[in-house]
Amino acid sequence: MVALARSTHLPISDDSDISAFKSDVLKGLGARRKHLPPKYFYDAAGSQLFDRITDQPEYYPTRCEIHILQDHGAEIAALIPAGAALIEFGSGSNRKARILLAAAPVLAAYVPVDISAEMLEQEADALQRDFPRLVIRPVAADFTHSFELPEEAKNAAVRVGFFPGSTIGNFEPHEAASFLRNAAKILGPGSKIVIGADLIKPAEILNAAYNDEAEVTAKFNLNLLARINRELGGNFNLATFEHHAFYNRERHRVEMHLASLTRQKVRVAGECFEFRAGETIHTENSYKYSPESLAALARGVGWQPAGVWTDARKYFSIQAFTLAP
Ligand code: AVJ
Repeated sequence: MVALARSTHLPISDDSDISAFKSDVLKGLGARRKHLPPKYFYDAAGSQLFDRITDQPEYYPTRCEIHILQDHGAEIAALIPAGAALIEFGSGSNRKARILLAAAPVLAAYVPVDISAEMLEQEADALQRDFPRLVIRPVAADFTHSFELPEEAKNAAVRVGFFPGSTIGNFEPHEAASFLRNAAKILGPGSKIVIGADLIKPAEILNAAYNDEAEVTAKFNLNLLARINRELGGNFNLATFEHHAFYNRERHRVEMHLASLTRQKVRVAGECFEFRAGETIHTENSYKYSPESLAALARGVGWQPAGVWTDARKYFSIQAFTLAP
């Protein structure tokens, strides 16, 4: 009951959330090439499954990013001036922010922004116990849309964005550019942003990471259909869909799909959708970058490169950018 109770940015899980989910699902399933937005993976069950993915031996990104933060936390934190507000986009679990916060100077506020209000509240409470003097101002919002920063962050000398987890890889490159343009607008002149981005690497390593032996990624992918059944009255038979994930070299992205094993009809929210045998629902793209390709994208919308850190194998990167004052 800590920060959220005091916050004016109350967690919201109202009809507009349900109808956004519903209209996105109906639109995606009605398209010629069926697709669903990956942000809907993260209901309570999906968030738990994602946490389990990060423990799988084949899924290297989370471990690599944490190692980079542990090994270079002081250098990364040196970008954060005293009195800055740290704004985390898509905070999810605070595991990474904790490492940065431990190395950071005294902040005006830490503002975790996440679509999952439940997770946000739990994580803020746990963080407050370990950082009792930290001003935590969570914002329950979809950061792909515009949202209002809390006063403490608006009034801070400077704002530093933190976007770990390679979530930027879920965007199409042009969407990543508009995210960065929007972040520039929200954070303002003189701000900085620290981004975790998965690096381009051999297909075998990527294919293994998204096809773990324990099949947790498959469960995570299929949970999207279970969520549609639960929340939108769908009748997907999960046993008739199969997880497909592969690296698309040409487009530098891992694609996840759910393939229908049979020709079938599925009903969702009163609408009927037909599947051919083998037809897929495209559920996620996870774009991979090089330091150069991300820098080029960022430069295009006004951010100047300010540092790149990688793990020893160069599997993952943390990259910093600044906006002119
Ligand atoms: C949370 C978007 C970074 O793309 O690797 C993990 C999600 N999907 N396994 C990723 C995910 C399948 C993950 N991100």
